[in-house]
Amino acid sequence: MLSPFLTSDIDPFLTMASTEGWLCGKWEMEFLLQTFPQGCLVKRSGSETLGYITSLRHDKSGWIGNLLVAPQARRGGIGTELMQGAIHALLDAGVETVWLTASAKGVELYRRLGFTAIDSINRWVGEGSGGTGWSPFSPWDPEMVRHVDCAGWGDRREALLHVTSGRGHVICDNYSFVCIQPWPQGTQLGPWGTLLEGQAAPLLDLALAAAGTPVFLDVPAGNVAAAVLLSRKGFSIKGSNTLMYLGVRPKYSPQKVFALASMGSMG
Ligand SMILES: CC(C)(COP(=O)(O)OP(=O)(O)OC[C@H]1O[C@@H](n2cnc3c(N)ncnc32)[C@H](O)[C@@H]1OP(=O)(O)O)[C@@H](O)C(=O)NCCC(=O)NCCS
Repeated sequence: MLSPFLTSDIDPFLTMASTEGWLCGKWEMEFLLQTFPQGCLVKRSGSETLGYITSLRHDKSGWIGNLLVAPQARRGGIGTELMQGAIHALLDAGVETVWLTASAKGVELYRRLGFTAIDSINRWVGEGSGGTGWSPFSPWDPEMVRHVDCAGWGDRREALLHVTSGRGHVICDNYSFVCIQPWPQGTQLGPWGTLLEGQAAPLLDLALAAAGTPVFLDVPAGNVAAAVLLSRKGFSIKGSNTLMYLGVRPKYSPQKVFALASMGSMG
């Protein structure tokens, strides 16, 4: 049987996640537990917590992340049980499509549960030239951001856009935007979307002028223009995961998605 993921589970989860090298913040876990608590679950055995999972409902879609089983408890079915719990919570809430990004260890598990690969997500790392010189209060248009994001992902993702833009700085242009999110480890670019390919380059220049080094972002491999742009700026790929979905095939347009909003865990 699975149990609810409690606030008191966050610190032990983050400790285990850091041994996997995951980039994951306390703010993110608090947001997930507040926004979709029924999809955030743990597996306990006595006083021990052996596994964790989170999920987030967008509108017609949901996203599963942070599946983590204690090393000594792996290959015993806990990962599968946690996945089934999160999938049920999302389907019960009415979502048609469930997304996730899969590490090499996770791909087979997800495939067995019915997930299909639709793209790869590359983690690009490079350098910024700024740091602190931007104002967090410059005007931006939340409805345009929601519209452009929806064109890429085929769904409205209001809560996710709200929390990520609220902790960073959003730069907008004509039907395009990029969010700059500070982390203790550097600067994340994302969410980053545009309806017009030519808008991405000037936005990247503005973002890099404001971003502290290192700069990292998770980018769909299906967005070839993003790869060309980032390579030109000296960025390189440091890792890759598989983007998978379950259920109704999403209206996904990777050429409009230049970076994910989260480091894989929320979309
Ligand atoms: C991936 C992970 C969650 C799997 O948890 P688990 O409890 O071991 O999963 P299960 O026991 O339910 O495994 C189900 C199936 O997944 C596949 N699988 C699990 N671990 C695997 C691994 N290390 N390599 C390849 N396939 C693996 C196998 O097909 C397995 O079935 P089998 O044991 O009958 O061969 C766990 O290894 C983990 O926490 N890894 C580190 C974090 C991580 O990579 N999380 C996934 C992020 S996408």
